[in-house]
Amino acid sequence: MSTTDDWAAQTTADPLATTEGERLDGRVALVAGGGLSGPLGGVGFSIAWLCGSAGAHVAVVDRDQAAGVRAVAAIRDAGGEAEWFSADVTDSASVESAVDAVVRRFGRIDLVADSIGGGGAVPALEIDDDEFDRVMQLNFLSAWRIIKFAQRHMTAGGSVVTISSGATEGRGPTMPYTIAKTALEKLTVGAASSLAPRGIRVNGVRVGMIWGAFAARGMTEEQRELRRQNVALQTEGTVWDIASAAFFLLSDRARWVSGQVLAVDGGGFAMKANTGAAGSAPARKAAS
Ligand SMILES: NC(=O)c1ccc[n+]([C@@H]2O[C@H](COP(=O)([O-])OP(=O)(O)OC[C@H]3O[C@@H](n4cnc5c(N)ncnc54)[C@H](O)[C@@H]3O)[C@@H](O)[C@H]2O)c1
Repeated sequence: MSTTDDWAAQTTADPLATTEGERLDGRVALVAGGGLSGPLGGVGFSIAWLCGSAGAHVAVVDRDQAAGVRAVAAIRDAGGEAEWFSADVTDSASVESAVDAVVRRFGRIDLVADSIGGGGAVPALEIDDDEFDRVMQLNFLSAWRIIKFAQRHMTAGGSVVTISSGATEGRGPTMPYTIAKTALEKLTVGAASSLAPRGIRVNGVRVGMIWGAFAARGMTEEQRELRRQNVALQTEGTVWDIASAAFFLLSDRARWVSGQVLAVDGGGFAMKANTGAAGSAPARKAAS
């Protein structure tokens, strides 16, 4: 006969019924753009570091050798296992050979994060083919390549996370970056549906106004302050806010979450004091 104690033991036997830290022991995590590109750190690096700290073997895929080697050293210093693999994500052959090298070294791929992106803050109707193509390559086709080649080796299920941008929520100016990240989000949702039958989850994180290596390239302190004021929570985020959400989505904590794009953005744009109360006055009679 069941007692309440039995019921408790039965239901809390679920791996999620714990508040202890998530472990990724025995998993292999491929993090594209995981290099440590500057003293402020990056989203990709922070994801790679969290995965390494949780026990995963981390493949840092980055075209910048110095950034890749720095990331590997930081992960190893924290007790993790990592290795740098060179690839240019705008080139299919390069991505395919890096993915193959990861599998030769670590034997499998379970987790994939792609943080590579940037550029294109110019009106789409004022640029030439090459510039448009460059932004699409970096922000969209790169992820398509990484997922395409990596999923072939994800034979035991797994999880993929893409890194999008709050730029997808804007209406203008029509930036190639906005277009590319919107395509990336569609790819994320579509890949989730394609890979679900194999137990592979695919989600995205839509990044708000964070400070890090990416933002620091080309922003003045004044612009940074204005950006901070435009956040609902009135603070700028950090790369760790994004990495923390990505880590959740990569981990088994999110084992039933797929095809989602999670906005991590301090609550979105600040709603400044509203100067009116639209619709609150009684309707005026039409003039006769
Ligand atoms: N910081 C923000 O305000 C903000 C806002 C919205 C979205 N984002 C997104 O966050 C991501 C920024 O990532 P991050 O913080 O890791 O940036 P980062 O600059 O720290 O890292 C990017 C890494 O990618 C590597 N890389 C660049 N091009 C490559 C290529 N062609 N092939 C291989 N490696 C390449 C670089 O060497 C670098 O190590 C981007 O996707 C960006 O669109 C940032």
